[in-house]
Amino acid sequence: MKSQASQLFYRKATSADVELIKAIIVESVHGLGSGDYNEIQRNTALGSAFGLDTELINDKTYFVVEAESEVIACGGWSKRKTLFGGDKQAGRQSEFLDPKKESARIRAFFVKPNWARLGIGRSLIELCETEALKHGFHSAELVATLPGHRLYLTCGYIGDEKVEYKLPGDVAIHFIPMKKTLS
Ligand SMILES: CC(C)(COP(=O)(O)OP(=O)(O)OC[C@H]1O[C@@H](n2cnc3c(N)ncnc32)[C@H](O)[C@@H]1OP(=O)(O)O)[C@@H](O)C(=O)NCCC(=O)NCCS
Repeated sequence: MKSQASQLFYRKATSADVELIKAIIVESVHGLGSGDYNEIQRNTALGSAFGLDTELINDKTYFVVEAESEVIACGGWSKRKTLFGGDKQAGRQSEFLDPKKESARIRAFFVKPNWARLGIGRSLIELCETEALKHGFHSAELVATLPGHRLYLTCGYIGDEKVEYKLPGDVAIHFIPMKKTLS
């Protein structure tokens, strides 16, 4: 278990980080998601709902966290309509949101298991909210995994209703839509 003593660096992700981010997503989903989702759900979601959305990297709205010369977490926000999912997720909506009327998206937070519960997820959310506010958004919404719901609740996001999403191969998974007013 790591400690809060390590120095953490938050920076924008680049295309050079793609393979590292993909590895973190797999490690995080299996290491921190096994209490909420079974192995079939996790493996199926990793090919779609939990994948990397490279549009966020191109938009410069995705961040990585480094510690001890290693990338240990990632997460971001978006000014586009897609609510969740990687490049392979069906139903993507790349249109830009209207910050005056619509909510920024909080997207794809994954922390390496041995760096969990050190406040990294919370700090990433604060960073994303600050950036969204700078871009004129007044609210943020997201589709939470069940592990993510515990984090977002403590960060002021509202939403408790579990919604079933169909993944490829007739596998179903529960997510929770959540929203927060930014100030
Ligand atoms: C969800 C996730 C990103 C949280 O990251 P994290 O860095 O561990 O979260 P933080 O340390 O910032 O947690 C902040 C607070 O959120 C709550 N919280 C976070 N994880 C929790 C858990 N497993 N159980 C209960 N509360 C939790 C706690 O209130 C925590 O504060 P505390 O540690 O002082 O009690 C991480 O668990 C993860 O990567 N999960 C697997 C992938 C996933 O499902 N991502 C979400 C996509 S929507």
